[in-house]
Amino acid sequence: MDADRSIEGEPPLSEWAELLESACSALPRLGIRQIRVLRETASTQDAAWRAGGGSPGWLVIAGRQTAGRGRLGRSWVDTGGAGLALTLALPRGLVSPIGVGLAVCRAANSMLPSALLGLRWPNDVVERSGIQRKAAGVLIEARNHISLVGIGVNVGPMAWPPDLEARAVCLHELGSSCTRPSLALAVLANLDRVLDWSGEQIATEAAALDTLKGTLRRFVYDGQNYEGVVESIEADSSIRVRTDEGALIELPALATSLLHD
Ligand code: BTN
Repeated sequence: MDADRSIEGEPPLSEWAELLESACSALPRLGIRQIRVLRETASTQDAAWRAGGGSPGWLVIAGRQTAGRGRLGRSWVDTGGAGLALTLALPRGLVSPIGVGLAVCRAANSMLPSALLGLRWPNDVVERSGIQRKAAGVLIEARNHISLVGIGVNVGPMAWPPDLEARAVCLHELGSSCTRPSLALAVLANLDRVLDWSGEQIATEAAALDTLKGTLRRFVYDGQNYEGVVESIEADSSIRVRTDEGALIELPALATSLLHD
């Protein structure tokens, strides 16, 4: 296997752009005009911003990402050559947080023997059973007129740092033998499909994969702690939670942190 490929059977990075280009031309709603494949970069979010000069229609995908960002100031671990790391620069507001999570979850499940993965609001892709180890995450950053939609998926086996060992899983561990470009194509195709759906349709599909409904959870929003039983995920990507006192609160997706015990 060459140094760029830690995944068995994966085409070399030099072939990814062409593979993706021909498939993206059949995905009209995403409007991808330019694709850049980087051997290594700090964060595909910044690379996509730089490459596109702030304009939409760019897809940047990295063979390796060394300083990936997660939601709410967290970091995304360097998965070496075993993770999918991509950023799509889209017109601001085109996609919703749960819409992207839904697309990634459907794509990842399509690579598995059965639909083992579900959605942990707003857009973590996690195992549906057990301790719900995380397989993929989504970061949406708004800058000027665009949204940088960053998607990270753990694809091949990797050595996790100790704090992630019990909380992270890769698709190969769940029985997939997919390669990163094939998964990238599935993610993009699902995202293009989801863009054709209404907010209500997205909420209904997301509810079928939801892993939080009916569970007692703690959240932080705007410096305040909230605790309650999750009732539903709404079409605008917010979550409805019933507190102990019986109040129904609605928390927004982009600025709320779900606390993990
Ligand atoms: C999260 O779960 O907190 C979101 C993780 C998002 C990671 C992806 S990897 C590609 C893109 N580039 C980044 O720096 N982050 C996102």
